[in-house]
Amino acid sequence: MTSANSASDTTGGDLRIPRHVAIIMDGNGRWAQSRGRPRAFGHSRGVEAVRATVQAAGDMGITQLTVFSFSTENWNRPAEEVGALFDLMGRYVRADLASLDKKGVRIRILGRRDGLNDDLLRIIEDAETRTQDNTAFQLNIAFNYGGRDEIVRATRTLGEKIRCGQLDPEVIDEDVFSQALDTHDLDDVDLLIRTSGEMRISNFLLWQAAYAEMIFMDVLWPDFDGDHLRKALEEFSSRNRRYGGLDAGAA
Ligand code: IPE
Ligand code: IPE
Ligand code: MG
Repeated sequence: MTSANSASDTTGGDLRIPRHVAIIMDGNGRWAQSRGRPRAFGHSRGVEAVRATVQAAGDMGITQLTVFSFSTENWNRPAEEVGALFDLMGRYVRADLASLDKKGVRIRILGRRDGLNDDLLRIIEDAETRTQDNTAFQLNIAFNYGGRDEIVRATRTLGEKIRCGQLDPEVIDEDVFSQALDTHDLDDVDLLIRTSGEMRISNFLLWQAAYAEMIFMDVLWPDFDGDHLRKALEEFSSRNRRYGGLDAGAA
């Protein structure tokens, strides 16, 4: 199948494969509570879904995956839950780093670094450094991430450069601005998936998802697997991305 906008996608059999998929992994708490278990149990089962999804995404030919695992607004949750999420993040990266590295996965953590403890900072920095030359697959974990916060930090970075005389404001365009974001060097998001039935963006990748196709799925995150990802790709393949233009042949 060829698409009118294949510039941003590659073709894989009947499916059009998005280059960059972003997922708002939502519904862990409801998944646990419906089983009479604490919310943290849902988060820890959610890690299994992350593992399955990274593997499935690579198998399907997706090359960039960004998962939302802790938002700047998630600090509003009870300290105990925040602690459990931090703990899980560190444990996941530590446990999976060697196997991800072996598979050629490059890891990047998007988001604010302040607010992270020294232990987690070390784990994150180690993962990024160790995998920086890998090229098979890009895994971004948005942790302590907010889209507005990212845009404000990028603006400050550019402002500092202007103040030091390293940057002429006249040269700032969308490309220059993109390079100041946490996602510098990555493609824009082609497909944004949110699980749990909620239909909102919750401050995720506000800049990068400007023209993303959005798919909202009723599944709770711990139940998400390769079959759900495939269904999302089927739906994505049927979408007509126009980027403000017209359908091929409509002019
Ligand atoms: C997503 O699941 C994980 C995070 C936001 C950290 P939730 O914890 O939001 O689960 P629900 O939405 O309350 O079910
Ligand atoms: C979004 O989910 C953040 C993550 C998945 C990490 P939330 O559960 O925090 O979003 P809201 O509060 O329902 O919008
Ligand atoms: Mg939620």
